[in-house]
Amino acid sequence: MAVPTGVLWERDPHTAAKHTLLRRYLDAWFPIMASTFRDVGITFLDGFAGPGKYTNTSESSPAIAMERAMRGEVTSLGTRTRLVLIEEHRGRSEHLQSHLDARFPQSVRPPGLVARVHHGECVDLYEQAIASVGGWVGPVFANLDGWGADVDYRIVERIAQQRSSEVLVTFQGQHFVRFVNLEHQTGERVFGNSDWRGVGDLPTEEKRPFLLDLYRLALRAAGFDHVLTFEMLDEGGRSLYQFFGTNSETAVEKFKDGLWEVDGVSGQRFRDPRDPNQLAFDILEPDFAPLENTILELLDEREQSMEELRQHALLETIYKQAHVKPRVDALVAEGKVEQVRTGRSYRERVFARTQQLF
Ligand SMILES: C[S@@+](CC[C@H](N)C(=O)[O-])C[C@H]1O[C@@H](n2cnc3c(N)ncnc32)[C@H](O)[C@@H]1O
Repeated sequence: MAVPTGVLWERDPHTAAKHTLLRRYLDAWFPIMASTFRDVGITFLDGFAGPGKYTNTSESSPAIAMERAMRGEVTSLGTRTRLVLIEEHRGRSEHLQSHLDARFPQSVRPPGLVARVHHGECVDLYEQAIASVGGWVGPVFANLDGWGADVDYRIVERIAQQRSSEVLVTFQGQHFVRFVNLEHQTGERVFGNSDWRGVGDLPTEEKRPFLLDLYRLALRAAGFDHVLTFEMLDEGGRSLYQFFGTNSETAVEKFKDGLWEVDGVSGQRFRDPRDPNQLAFDILEPDFAPLENTILELLDEREQSMEELRQHALLETIYKQAHVKPRVDALVAEGKVEQVRTGRSYRERVFARTQQLF
């Protein structure tokens, strides 16, 4: 998709899938966080908020967040809930304000909810915008959904320092790699250091995986214990990358539950950018070959319990913990893996690669 210039544009299937995932994750995030942080309140930052709707749908990331924040299970807790929405295009920020006012009039908003639209660049405004609603006393979920390589590393770093906070960074594939041809400040700004320049020495096919891996490491360096990353591909082969940074294993689980719930996301293909074979699959018809390969690689290194394999799948791959046992069972049935110790539960069972006699 070319970068739109008008106030509104049509929502493409990628963005629809991205909205489905965001909605599902926020379905969990708002009630869990509002219940955990009743004393200090919670903040949703949409740093690249857009105009609030599309020519073909009134769904958008700010509208999804408003709806989730206004659900009874959240408002009944009475937790201070702040929505900070930043948009640099004047026409879009004005549209966002009037769209939210019309769709969620002040008269129906719960007393504990504050939603503010700011016009300007995210990196210039976010610190003060969050401070102005008292958001730095509690956790922040930052949705950083730019076109390409336009999310400044300073924002990610700042959010990572904030207790129990998370980022969801989106890059559109074609824009993400293009920046390597731009002036050097862009790379420094996005990655936070100059390691990205190594991309210049690489063959074309290695440039993208190199940058994606570097970005994952940059989020880890910023302070996130867990970085979940995946690529969505549409029918035209255009890709969109999402990086989810968090310090909570439960959050990784919830995010993956959203990713693997199929309705509304069909037609999109998913890929783990770290899979060396770059297998892409429809979530409706998953391909577990990359997971089986990962299990075999781990067992080549040493014996592993089922729980260790499940943890690895959760934290280091696109797959869920629940996908592991059926794959291990299949590998045992194929004679590639054997159980070497049993345990009180299946999670304690220990597995190894089958000894090859010839
Ligand atoms: C991909 S769209 C966002 C869509 C929106 N998050 C949604 O899901 O409905 C990116 C938006 O970010 C805005 N934008 C681009 N650079 C920005 C910046 N540096 N600061 C704030 N907004 C920016 C663009 O004008 C555009 O409206």
